[in-house]
Amino acid sequence: MKFFADTAEIDAIAELNDIGLIDGVTTNPSLILKSGRDILEVTKEICSIVSGPVSAEVTSLDFENMMREAAVLAKVAKNICIKLPLTLDGLKACKALTSEGHKTNVTLCFSANQALLAAKAGATYISPFVGRLDDINNDGAQLIEDIRTIYDNYAHLHTQILAASLRTPNHVSAVAKIGADVATIPPNVIKTLVNHPLTDGGLAQFTADWKKTGQKI
Ligand code: E4P
Repeated sequence: MKFFADTAEIDAIAELNDIGLIDGVTTNPSLILKSGRDILEVTKEICSIVSGPVSAEVTSLDFENMMREAAVLAKVAKNICIKLPLTLDGLKACKALTSEGHKTNVTLCFSANQALLAAKAGATYISPFVGRLDDINNDGAQLIEDIRTIYDNYAHLHTQILAASLRTPNHVSAVAKIGADVATIPPNVIKTLVNHPLTDGGLAQFTADWKKTGQKI
C-alpha cells in the first residue's frame, strides 16, 4: 500500500519524504487554509519535494469553472493530480481531464455506488472518507471493503482506492488488510505507526547491556 501525506505543511512533507515514507501528497481547501499559504505557491513547493502525485483540489462547483481551475493547477507541476468532488459536474470534469491525460482524484466518496461512478468516469483515484463515516457511526472500513470487491469484479476498472480521512493507526492497518491501493494519512499519524512499547523496552535493554560490555564499534 502506498502512503500519501494528507497535509499542506512543507516541513512535515519534507521530513517524511527524506525518510522515504511517502509516495505522494493530498491537499484540500481546509488543509490549504490550515497552512496559511497561497494555494499555487504551496502546491508548487510540495511538488518540488515529492516526485509522486500531489492532489490539488478545484473549488468551483460547475464543470466549466472546474476545468478552468484544473488548467491553472495542472500548470503548477507535472506531478499534479486534479482533485474533483463527487458530483455530476465533478465526474464530467474527471472524464474530460482523464481524456486529456491528467491524473484525477475524485473526492468526498461515501458510498460504493459513488465509487463505481468515479471508476466509470476514468478516475485515477477514488477517495472514500473512512474517518468521516466512522464519525457518524457508520463503518468506514466496510466501505473500503465494498469498493475493493466491486472494483475487483471488473478487470476493466483501473481506478485505485485511495483511503482518505484516516485518523488513527487502526484505520491504516484496517485499510491495508482490505487491500486499499493508497492510504492518505496525516503526518502525525504516520509517525505514530513506528511506536511500540516492546521496541522501546527492548532498545533500552540492549543499550544498557551494550554499555556494560565496555565495547565500541
Ligand atoms: C484527503 O484527500 C481528504 O480530503 C482528507 O483525508 C479528509 O480528512 P478529514 O476527514 O480528516 O478532514
